[in-house]
Amino acid sequence: VTTDAAILHALRHDPGGASGADLARRLGISRAAVWARIEALRELGYDIEASPHQGYQLLDSPDALHADDLIARQRRPQIIGRDIRVFQETTSTNDIIERFARDGVEEGVVVFAESQTQGRGRLGRKWVSPPGRGLWFSVLLRPQFPPAAATRITILAATAVARAVRELTGLRVEIKWPNDILARGRKLVGILTEMSAEPDRVRHVTLGIGVDVNVAASELPAALREVATSLLEETGRRWQRAEVAAALLEALDDDYARLRDGNFRAIADEWESQCATLGQNVVVEMGARRISGRAESLDDDGALLLRTQHGRLERIIGGDVLIEK
Ligand code: BTN
Repeated sequence: VTTDAAILHALRHDPGGASGADLARRLGISRAAVWARIEALRELGYDIEASPHQGYQLLDSPDALHADDLIARQRRPQIIGRDIRVFQETTSTNDIIERFARDGVEEGVVVFAESQTQGRGRLGRKWVSPPGRGLWFSVLLRPQFPPAAATRITILAATAVARAVRELTGLRVEIKWPNDILARGRKLVGILTEMSAEPDRVRHVTLGIGVDVNVAASELPAALREVATSLLEETGRRWQRAEVAAALLEALDDDYARLRDGNFRAIADEWESQCATLGQNVVVEMGARRISGRAESLDDDGALLLRTQHGRLERIIGGDVLIEK
């Protein structure tokens, strides 16, 4: 943990203020060094007040993503979020995680970008990521299971993100299989899981998540306006992205712990209770193949079980789901 992260952590968790002497002692640096870091944080836009009685108090934070601040906001990450990096611009945060994975970086590292020049969605689609308006991030995971179970990661991510958004904003959100989070039927969050695997072992999973936070409808291409939305559009107010990010990372870390503890069923049950697709008659398009049936449940690998009109149960692990009205 850097000095700045430690200072921000102390200021966030001591809303009553922390004295320079106190901070200096806790961080093992001089009071002058604390003051210099406070000045540097002010330069970054953190509004920190210094008063003789209460010491330093954090009054306001900028709506920019800083790794130190994101780390300072975390409680006690077990895996996801124990290392966080922020890039101003990248092709796609999934590309950076891929590189980290090949370099042998430990699982749990999270990469955010203020802007992506080649953000991508599922099935080769483009993901529009307006600079500074959303959370565009990816997580490196190295789960110990066979490739067939990798869908669990997608299910876990959708469950965690839906819960975090609901608890933080009070919005009623729904999951659309496999991994879209919708509000009033419009897409608020997209999730792209990419995997590198051997026949019987997952090498790593890159979990990419895009959340439209402060994106105004007018900033979206016309074609997306009817199908996409944002926290701003749904709640009528701007959100501090770092606050939203912290809530998301905490939920993801909690659910990754549930998965590692062998408790995928609890996640699947929560997913099923949030899912708009179950119980509906749907058509799944997988390339040229179309299967229709009633979406029944999730199996233990995270696949969707579809009951066809012939009564057969089909396992679905990809594709696009259309809900038949
Ligand atoms: C989809 O709904 O099709 C998935 C969209 C995933 C978008 C996120 S933004 C961060 C990460 N980097 C990318 O290029 N894509 C994912």
